[in-house]
Amino acid sequence: MALHKPYKDVPGTTIFDADQSRKGYWLNQFCMSLMKAENRARFKQDEDAYLAEWPMSEEQRAAVRARDLNWMMRTGGNIYFLAKLGATDGLSFQQMAGSMTGMSEHQYRDMMVGGGRSPEGNRYQGESGDAQGPVARSDAWQSWELSNQDALAAQVMADHAASRMGGAQEEAVHARITASVYTSHVPAIGAAIDLGKTEEAYWKPLFAGYEPSRQWMRENRPDVVFLVYNDHATSFDLGVIPTFAIGTAAEFEPADEGYGPRPVPKVIGHPELASHIAQSVIQQDFDLTLVNELKVDHGLTVPMNLLFGSPEEWPVKVIPFHVNVVQYPVPSGARCFALGQAIRRAIESYDAPLKVQIWGTGGMSHQLQGPRAGLINREWDNAFLDKLIDDPAAAAAIPHIDYVREAGSEGIELVMWLIARGAMSDVGGGNKPTLKHRFYHVPASNTAVGHLILENN
Ligand code: DHB
Ligand code: FE
Repeated sequence: MALHKPYKDVPGTTIFDADQSRKGYWLNQFCMSLMKAENRARFKQDEDAYLAEWPMSEEQRAAVRARDLNWMMRTGGNIYFLAKLGATDGLSFQQMAGSMTGMSEHQYRDMMVGGGRSPEGNRYQGESGDAQGPVARSDAWQSWELSNQDALAAQVMADHAASRMGGAQEEAVHARITASVYTSHVPAIGAAIDLGKTEEAYWKPLFAGYEPSRQWMRENRPDVVFLVYNDHATSFDLGVIPTFAIGTAAEFEPADEGYGPRPVPKVIGHPELASHIAQSVIQQDFDLTLVNELKVDHGLTVPMNLLFGSPEEWPVKVIPFHVNVVQYPVPSGARCFALGQAIRRAIESYDAPLKVQIWGTGGMSHQLQGPRAGLINREWDNAFLDKLIDDPAAAAAIPHIDYVREAGSEGIELVMWLIARGAMSDVGGGNKPTLKHRFYHVPASNTAVGHLILENN
């Protein structure tokens, strides 16, 4: 379950990974706030009052007050964030780094002038180098530990338990992908649900097409849904455009897309599994953006309603996975298909018996812009569904221009279905999946709606 951490035995070194980042989230965000002059002034004027505004632990606040960088790192701080605090105090990076070594400022500077610290004896814990000893500790840290010994002992136990679980590969049970689900995600479907119009003649056939799916879902509910969707200029504007982004937060609120937030439950994430997938997939050479602040739009919430109805709380945890299909260049179908295979390997290497479904959303043919708006291509859509079911590699080979020409400019959303399809067992040499449901309907607003359920065997 724990992340694989080969860097744990490098002496005098804390690698800032997802676990550290979760632990230090608000400590680091507090440090970031010091990049504004007005915040620095308020912090300097009354440290306690300013620190009270941030949801940090008491230990983190104490470490900040003591300006003990080793202590702050122990509680999840990262040096580039902590450096904002050092800068606020007028310290240089050399002063900050030196303060963590147990040397005086002069000794540290002299060591650097003399060529720096040698790696000899400092590569592994337990060697004879000069970075092996106990870290420099402020009096404040030592007395804090004396008065919090019980909590500390519990932490040591928890750390040991976590590293034991990480090492117990033989006995481990793994997460598995039980099924993939594919569906369009039109905002008007959400509006029809929210405004009580699902029984109207226009909408009735569409919702009827999903009734078998809701029944299937009641009988085949997973623990986690890995939900591939695209953000539609909602959380990501033109300031930063990630191609692939994974939501690693504990929860995600429904976004206000201009009509007010939809009256749907907030989405509960799975930060541990998401971080594990991120680490595994990035090590398989797919560059993901990690997102801890994300509001989810119709691309995610409408499929949730279609498969789960409108409960008080969503019955599963969800890992949102965003794909840029708004501004070109967007990733190819082949790239998405390969990414799905990497995601399957990541999920199957997670040491907990979780049932995971992977969903691909968006599409089918639609064009929302220009004189060609309203384009629908039933024949192409259904050929795509056929290929996706029986010959996914052929579906993955479809070039971008075909989506645009044949399925409309927004039909490109269909590349996201290839991530879900790539994660199915047959693509990795396993058995063919079973088609549990297929549905196609025109129109919902400007869009042809397509929907498939494939079960792994
Ligand atoms: C519509 C479809 C979409 O996929 C979308 O993101 C926005 C609007 C539509 O058909 O209206
Ligand atoms: Fe869309």
